[in-house]
Amino acid sequence: MSKSESENPSSDNVVWHSGDVNRPDRERMLGQRAGTVWFTGLSGSGKSTVAVEVERRLAAGGRLCYRLDGDNLRHGLNGDLGFGESDRTENIRRTGEVCRLLVDAGVIVLASFVSPFRADRDAVRSMHAAAGMPFLEVHVEVPIEVAEQRDPKGLYRKARAGEIRGFTGIDQPYEAPDAPELVLATSSVSVEASAASVVELLEGRGLVLPG
Ligand code: ADX
Repeated sequence: MSKSESENPSSDNVVWHSGDVNRPDRERMLGQRAGTVWFTGLSGSGKSTVAVEVERRLAAGGRLCYRLDGDNLRHGLNGDLGFGESDRTENIRRTGEVCRLLVDAGVIVLASFVSPFRADRDAVRSMHAAAGMPFLEVHVEVPIEVAEQRDPKGLYRKARAGEIRGFTGIDQPYEAPDAPELVLATSSVSVEASAASVVELLEGRGLVLPG
C-alpha cells in the first residue's frame, strides 16, 4: 500500500448498495421520528445523568431510544483511543457515524460525550445535516469549580495531582458551543427539570408527540 493510500483510505471503488426499506419506513413502523440529541460538557457536568432520565421518560412513553456514552464506548468500539486531541477527534467522528446509523434505523439517540472541540461537534452536526437527520446539541453547563467539587469518579483530584494529563478543564481546553439548541445549567436546575427541557425540545422539533 502506498503512503497516500494508507493516509487517505479511499472509497472510490466501493459502491453504495441501497435496500428497499428506508428510514421513513422504519420511522413509520416505530411511530416516531429519529434524531440525535448530543450532550456536551465537562466531565461531571451531568450529561449521562440527564440522558438516563430522558431515556427513562421517553421509554415510558413508548419511544425507542438508545444511549451512547463516552465512558461506555471507550470500553469497546473506542477502546483503542486515548485523550490526546487526535484521539478525541476520532472518538467523536466514530460516534457520529454510529449516531447516523442508529438514526437511519429509526432510533432517537442520546449521546453523552465531553466532546471538547467545537470543530468535532460541528462535523457530527454536518454529517447529520447532509443526511437530513435532526441533530440537537445540548450544552450541559456547569462551572469547572462545581464539576471539580462533585468529582464523581475522583478524576479531577487525580488531574490536580498530576496523575492524569490532558484532563478537560484542567490542562486541556473545553470549547463551549456557540449556538446549542439547549443549555442546561445543572448546578441550579434539577435532573428532572433538565430532562423535562430536553423532552420539550424533542416535542418542539416533532420527534416526540406532546404527552
Ligand atoms: S471525549 O473528550 O473524547 O469526548 P469521552 O466523553 O469519550 O471524552 O470520555 C470522557 C470520560 O473519560 C470522562 O467522563 C472521564 O470519566 C474519563 N476521562 C479519563 N481521562 C480523561 C481526560 N483526560 N479528559 C476528560 N475525561 C477523561
